[in-house]
Amino acid sequence: MPSSPSSDHLATSSKLSLREIPGTYGTAFFGPIKDRYDYFYNQGKDEFFRKKIQKYNSTVFRTNMPPGPFISSDPRVVAVLDSKSFTILFDNSKVEKKNILDGTYMPSLSFFGGYRVCAFLDTDESNHHTLKSFFLTFLANSHKKFIPYMRTGLTEMFENIETEITDKKSSDFNVHSDNMAFGFVFRLVTGTNPLETKVKSKGPATIATWLALQLAPLGTSGLKFIPNFIDDIIHTVRLPFFVIKSGYKKLYNAVYDSATTLLDEAEKSGINREEACHNLVFLAAFNAFGGMKVLFPSLMKWISSAGESLHSRLAEEIRSVVKTEGDVSFSTLEKLPLTKSTVYEVLRIDPPVPFQYATAREDIIIESHDSAFEIKKGETIFGYQPFATKDPKVFNNPEEFVADRFVGEGEELLKYVYWSNARETENPSADNKQCPAKDLVVLCCRLMLVEFFLRYDTFTADTEVSGFGASVKITSLTKCV
Ligand code: HEM
Repeated sequence: MPSSPSSDHLATSSKLSLREIPGTYGTAFFGPIKDRYDYFYNQGKDEFFRKKIQKYNSTVFRTNMPPGPFISSDPRVVAVLDSKSFTILFDNSKVEKKNILDGTYMPSLSFFGGYRVCAFLDTDESNHHTLKSFFLTFLANSHKKFIPYMRTGLTEMFENIETEITDKKSSDFNVHSDNMAFGFVFRLVTGTNPLETKVKSKGPATIATWLALQLAPLGTSGLKFIPNFIDDIIHTVRLPFFVIKSGYKKLYNAVYDSATTLLDEAEKSGINREEACHNLVFLAAFNAFGGMKVLFPSLMKWISSAGESLHSRLAEEIRSVVKTEGDVSFSTLEKLPLTKSTVYEVLRIDPPVPFQYATAREDIIIESHDSAFEIKKGETIFGYQPFATKDPKVFNNPEEFVADRFVGEGEELLKYVYWSNARETENPSADNKQCPAKDLVVLCCRLMLVEFFLRYDTFTADTEVSGFGASVKITSLTKCV
């Protein structure tokens, strides 16, 4: 079978010697519990993976992944933690991506109106092709709205942040960013301002609860005063949908009532109207809002930590190009090498969706930098992306934020940036599992930097990293004169 160009795993045999995959799963039940405690409480996730890499002298090894008992029936995975072996996860000819978005467990279908929505479908399932084509067409037809909708949202967001800093001396960026992201996505999908629907201003909070109920088994409460064995309960029982049922229904109804043109188009492509609407809610709430909820604060965290010298370089680049071009357009955004590289560097050092899973369709040989390994048909493969995109064999000073890493010849390294569930040099299609909004997401980040540095010279922020991303409090903004 020919292998996909996105993968480093060639159909032909390589010179690397075949090594048995190191690592053990331990005894049933106790093995997964031990790994879960090490991962969440004793070591923390980065240390958990680092220790195993050292112990086995290999970036490919066997381990259990949380949640384990009693939520996932089989927590055993083969971890792929370097830039090369990770790419097996993109090779749809060799791996299946069915019901595996969240890892070794799948939330109840009640969260999605009873449907297996696109992100849970494998490329071999015909409705994946139909739904993904529908999304790709929707995004292509909406592209003229991206810049104006985003700029309107950003202007409003920065005005609100300024007012809050004047009133309270600091501003919670995450809250404002969530409101802006939700407004942008809802408007893109429905053509309507959410405040004019029954959702009103409750969208971000409703979605945050809906997301937390599904994803709780993958994190911790983050509350230090709660003993570990109590905190661990969220990894042993599924949290029920009914808690958010009425909020979800309100969101669904608002999309159903306003996205009429898009839903008509879905029906024309042969998709049932209700199924299309639940898919649009998932796309807007999980894929888009969920991604932006993590990415935008992360972007501001890294820009803040880089300090004033990067701020002034970005401001200079952005202001001079916008002045020459006369406006902020797609072509203006292409002419900003430092701004573009800075966004890619954030996506490299802190990929917003850090975990990827897949199942081997057949017995396959994968390669790390040093060895080849055989994975058996049906085994679960797991990648922790921050280790792949901070691989010291590919990137110099991988743990360092180097804003201009991808400028000039550095562009060559973009093929090792994997945030969209494929290489940055690849494009999403109906036949792969890459994020269909790959270019839109990059565009939104560039726009955030452009709007920011057209308004401000520099800023300061207090930042913290919690279970599901960064939290950023802006403490000062220096307006440009
Ligand atoms: C910061 C924002 C975003 C991030 C970080 C992000 C990231 C991702 C990733 C990593 C995947 C692959 C998940 C997997 O299979 O493991 C994905 C899939 C997907 N994303 Fe995005 N995404 C973002 C925004 C969006 C937006 C704005 C849309 C649509 C408007 C979107 C629609 C989708 C869809 C439909 C899929 C499933 C693709 C498939 O099943 O083939 N995403 N996204």
